[in-house]
Amino acid sequence: MALVKTALALVFTATTTLSVLQISSAAVYKVGDSAGWTTIGNVDYKLWAATKTFQIGDIIHFEYNSQFHNVMRVTHPMYKACNASAPLATYTTGNDSITITNRGHHFFFCGVPGHCQAGQKVDINVLRTTQMAPTPSALPSPPSVPAAKVPGPSPSNAVSLKSLKSLLWKLVLSMVVFAGFVSSAAA
Ligand SMILES: *[C@@H]1O[C@H](CO)[C@@H](O)[C@H](O)[C@H]1NC(C)=O
Ligand SMILES: *[C@@H]1O[C@H](CO)[C@@H](O)[C@H](O)[C@H]1NC(C)=O
Repeated sequence: MALVKTALALVFTATTTLSVLQISSAAVYKVGDSAGWTTIGNVDYKLWAATKTFQIGDIIHFEYNSQFHNVMRVTHPMYKACNASAPLATYTTGNDSITITNRGHHFFFCGVPGHCQAGQKVDINVLRTTQMAPTPSALPSPPSVPAAKVPGPSPSNAVSLKSLKSLLWKLVLSMVVFAGFVSSAAA
């Protein structure tokens, strides 16, 4: 019986650790950091995005003066051409939070004429290598922000947290099997 208790305690510990990792994996990123979303100061949004490892569930936060700027989510061709004629979505509050719900590229720019050309554009890329082990809480959530499909190399920027998670999942599963085995042996 002591073995069963130990096994169950281990399962509990591993599950709790997983939930903590799950919560801590969602981050809020303010685009441009302290500069915010602007054409002033030549903020390098490409560089800004390159220093982040975006994941599903992260919140992309655009903060700007809504009198002078906005946020448009666009396709890759529109992004490349700074074509604001048919955005997929437009945000105008000056304090917009967009939750990333799927992998791939998410293209945004300011739709005010000239601003995208001036560099007020950002590509939020959620790498395919950041795929996490399925969890009950992370299962069916319909994508509300579909990723634009872009062919290209996916950087092999493996995240150690992810491997830790999958390791923990394997641990949980083996503990469950072990607990079942011990309790049937004890019975
Ligand atoms: C902008 O995009 C629209 C819709 O996709 C297209 O009809 C138009 O030709 C594009 N304009 C330019 C300048 O590329
Ligand atoms: C933006 O909105 C959040 C809540 O969604 C609020 O906490 C924050 O103070 C707002 N920031 C500005 C600059 O209005």
